[in-house]
Amino acid sequence: MTFAHVPVLKNEVLEYLTFDSGRSARLIDGTLGGGGHSAALLERYPLLELLGIDRDEHALAAARERLRPFAGRVRTVHGNYSDMAALARGSGWDEVDGVLLDIGVSSPQIDTPERGFSWRENGPLDMRMDQSASMTASRLLNRAPQAELEEIFRKYGEIRSAKRLAAAVVERRTVLPFAATADLVALCDDVLGRAGKGELPRPTLVFQALRIAVNGELDELEKGLSAACGLLRTGGRLAVISFHSLEDRIVKNFMRDSSRDCICPPGLPECRCGHRACLKPVTRHVVTAGGDELAQNRRSAPARLRVAEKC
Ligand SMILES: C[S@@+](CC[C@H](N)C(=O)[O-])C[C@H]1O[C@@H](n2cnc3c(N)ncnc32)[C@H](O)[C@@H]1O
Repeated sequence: MTFAHVPVLKNEVLEYLTFDSGRSARLIDGTLGGGGHSAALLERYPLLELLGIDRDEHALAAARERLRPFAGRVRTVHGNYSDMAALARGSGWDEVDGVLLDIGVSSPQIDTPERGFSWRENGPLDMRMDQSASMTASRLLNRAPQAELEEIFRKYGEIRSAKRLAAAVVERRTVLPFAATADLVALCDDVLGRAGKGELPRPTLVFQALRIAVNGELDELEKGLSAACGLLRTGGRLAVISFHSLEDRIVKNFMRDSSRDCICPPGLPECRCGHRACLKPVTRHVVTAGGDELAQNRRSAPARLRVAEKC
């Protein structure tokens, strides 16, 4: 089975997500995808064991194939990474040495029109990473209240005309329900017009917003970060690659707050939160792709890596 996904920031992940090569170690890859990052780590650390999680069965099938050379050290499981604590316990693990999250969609998800993630080719308005889930993009567009759609467009797509777009969706679906990606692209063209020079094509942010909502991506991320932090043993590392500012902000704030002994609002005479630092930053600044990687893989351009260590 071919799974054409090039892992982004692979060298940087190998640089910062390190293990003691003299002893066995446990890694959770919460977004296994095609297993590219995991294969590189398993190859580098012969005593490393992996629990690979993905909510997409196609990705899991491809990863199992790719990770076959490491079979004795690999377990894969279908599920959400926000459930990693329970999934780890199910594998007999109550502590791990590393967690990797490379969030977002894989290239095969975007490049397969039948999955409905891309506005560039026509296909069903699906956008589910987990094809056993019940909520699809067309269902959301055809059923959600106008106010909910407006919030999705504003919050997850940062679209200025969110109100107008939500009203247009509701008006159009009473005449003809949304079924195909081309239906939504046509509406974006009508309501939002063409993008100006240097701007993103209009449907890009609309599709992003819907995808985030359909898959509950930001909620997953917040829960996943806490779960990872709870599972890491002292000295274990959490590495997160995100692809847009909404995600990166969540990761940045989580790592910042988790590195502080007090997160009370400024100005209080004494600490009331009782918060204790549980992480320390490994990467002081966000890590992005270098020139060589950018030249070879344009999809690495938005990738942002942050790494922290359990303390
Ligand atoms: C960018 S790809 C990962 C690619 C992988 N690092 C590699 O090297 O091949 C992201 C993957 O994460 C999965 N994913 C996204 N959100 C998830 C979640 N909340 N739980 C489990 N898997 C998730 C997607 O289905 C997709 O396969």
